[in-house]
Amino acid sequence: MKILTVVGARPQFVKAAVVSRAVLRARAAGGPAIEEEIVHTGQHYDHGMSEVFFEQMDIPRPVVDLAVGSGRHGETTGAMLAGIEREILARSPDVVLVYGDTNSTLAAALAAAKLHVPVAHVEAGLRSFNRAMPEEVNRVLTDHVSQWLFCPSEVSKKHLANEGIHDGVRVVGDVMADAVEHYRQKAIAPSIDGPFALATLHRAENTDEPERLRGIVAALEGSDIPVVLPLHPRTAATFERLGISPQGSLRIVEPVSYFEMLGLLEAARFVLTDSGGLQKEAFWFGKRCVTMRDETEWVELVEIGANRVVGSSEQAIRDAIAWADAPVTDAPAVYGDGTAGDVIVRELRA
Ligand code: UD1
Repeated sequence: MKILTVVGARPQFVKAAVVSRAVLRARAAGGPAIEEEIVHTGQHYDHGMSEVFFEQMDIPRPVVDLAVGSGRHGETTGAMLAGIEREILARSPDVVLVYGDTNSTLAAALAAAKLHVPVAHVEAGLRSFNRAMPEEVNRVLTDHVSQWLFCPSEVSKKHLANEGIHDGVRVVGDVMADAVEHYRQKAIAPSIDGPFALATLHRAENTDEPERLRGIVAALEGSDIPVVLPLHPRTAATFERLGISPQGSLRIVEPVSYFEMLGLLEAARFVLTDSGGLQKEAFWFGKRCVTMRDETEWVELVEIGANRVVGSSEQAIRDAIAWADAPVTDAPAVYGDGTAGDVIVRELRA
C-alpha cells in the first residue's frame, strides 16, 4: 500500500514523525508492502518552525515542498489544493494521510476526496464548537470527507457520531503521547536558573484581537515567577505592529525545537497556552495547564482537574496562575498508552 502523507505546520511534523516511524517498523517486520511519501505544503517555512523538526526527529524527507508560505486563508489553502492535487495525480497513492486541523489538513483532504482517493484523518472528532476558529472549520470539513477517522479519545468518537459519522471510526489514542514517550529521554534542559512557567501564544483569536492580547501579556508580565514564552512568528509580528515590548516577569525567546520544548516542559512549574498540543504535553509531564482561550477541544483534561480554561482577561489568568503551581498527580491515561502510531498503521494495512 502506498501512503501519501501531507504536512505543513509545526505540530504536524511531531505527529507525522510517530506514524512514519511506525510505517518503517511495519516494513521491517515484513508482510504486505507498505510505503510512504511525504508532501510538505510549506505553510511553515522558517528553519526553527520546520526544518529543525525533520532533522531532530529523523522524519523522512518530503518528496516535494510546495512552498506555499504565508498569506490569506483562501489564497494559501487554494494554492495547497492545486499543488496537492498535482502530487496525488502524479503519485497515485492508495490513501492520503492528514493530521489535525490546519489549512494544510483541509487542502489535502479536499484534494484527495475530489480525486476519490481515501482520506485518513489522525486526530479526528476534535471539536471546540466555535466555528469562528479556522481550525474548527478545518476539522469538521476534513472529518466529513475522511474514510478512516482515528480518534484520540471516546469523546471525539461521540462527536463524530453526533454528526452522523460512524463508519471507519477508531479510537486509537493520541500520537503525541507516542512522541513524548519515545523522545522524552532526548529532552534538552533549558539554561534557566530558578523556577519558571512555560507559555505559548499564537491563536488567531488572541493574536488578532489587541484587547485579548494585551490582557494576556499584562497577566504574564505580572506573574510572581518568570514566564518563558518561545514566540511564534505570527505573535512576534503582532507585538511589533502594536508596539508591545514585554516587561516584568515575561521573557521572550525564539521558537524552540521539539527536544528543547520537552526540556522546558520537564523543568517548568506549569504551563500557560492557547495551543492544542501543549495542553496535552503539559499533562504528560505532570504539569497543570492554564488555557488562555474560551473553550478547549481537550475536555478530558478539564474534567480530571489538570487544565483550566480561563479566557484572556488579566484577572482570570492571574487567578489561574495561583492555582496552577502544583503538580498533576494520579491522573488516568486519558489519551491512550503511547502506541497510537502502530495501531494506525495496522488499521490502514488491514
Ligand atoms: C497554524 C494552524 C494552527 C496551528 C499552528 C501551529 C491554521 C489555520 N492554523 O497556525 O492550527 O496550531 O499552525 O503553529 O492552519 N509565519 C512565519 N514563519 C513560519 C510560519 C508562519 O513567519 O514558518 C507567520 C506568517 O506571518 C504567517 C503567520 O505566521 O502569516 C501565521 O501562519 P499560519 O501558518 O497561517 O498560521 P499559524 O498561526 O502558524
